[in-house]
Amino acid sequence: MKVAVIIPAAGAGERYKAQSPVGRSKLDEPLGDRPVLQRTVELFTKRDDVSAIIVAAPLDPDARADFDEKHADKLAILGAVVVPGGKTHRYETVAAALEHLPADATHVAVHDAARPATPMELIDRLFAAAAKHPAVIPGLPVSDTLKRVAESEAAADEPDPLDVVLGIAKGPRQERTVEQTVDRAGLYAVQTPQVFELDLLRRAYAQPDLTSTDDAQLVERLGEPVHVIDADARNIKITVPADLELARRIMGLRESGGRPTHKRF
Ligand code: CTP
Ligand code: MG
Repeated sequence: MKVAVIIPAAGAGERYKAQSPVGRSKLDEPLGDRPVLQRTVELFTKRDDVSAIIVAAPLDPDARADFDEKHADKLAILGAVVVPGGKTHRYETVAAALEHLPADATHVAVHDAARPATPMELIDRLFAAAAKHPAVIPGLPVSDTLKRVAESEAAADEPDPLDVVLGIAKGPRQERTVEQTVDRAGLYAVQTPQVFELDLLRRAYAQPDLTSTDDAQLVERLGEPVHVIDADARNIKITVPADLELARRIMGLRESGGRPTHKRF
């Protein structure tokens, strides 16, 4: 088994920036003494079953220049190849990265750059399952109660004239009303890495409609089975700043520099 790892890192990180006091990219944030992106790449650098690591960087030239300045040297030392990602959607990024796979790869693992805390044991189990099943993903049964919610804009409160002058008058509020409670039986929240036989993922990405939020969805669209193994709650995706803090705790790291506060796993 020779696994090529694709790490989509071309996203704008809009939700993170919107809540970050300094508006920094989530993949550049420090986890201990190294940025999130480097930590994620390091999950795969010491594995004998991984033959290539392909990091997909932002397509926009300015964003790419910034990315290269922050990451190119370190990624080169780690042996990762950096390729251009897609314009808008994650599936465009993965499709672009698939053009750069080494000829000898038998499998592809796609792993979000924003998931640096993946336990090695989960990667071991995924790769072991991928030797038996052509498509394997990690999933956890949903434990929260799920509701479908109608969203609408309520009329804005009458603004204070001073707020209008200062430009801080509040816009319309979001009104939310429950429409329905969704039966959660059989519903799973899925994570990455998602691991596929190379030919299967190539077929999935050769379809005309690539609209999807994960790679497995395109394999499902082919009508091929996708095997689900137990995921790990520690394998969080950094979406907003609170997730970064959680990742630091999971990984036993301080904000920057310094030694780990406790051993990792
Ligand atoms: N991603 C990508 N190319 C895109 C969109 C997303 O490579 N066009 C990557 C992100 O860099 C991230 C992963 O896909 O590693 C998961 O996406 P998400 O967590 O949604 O990150 P962003 O799209 O960057 O964030 P946001 O949706 O808040 O803008
Ligand atoms: Mg996104």
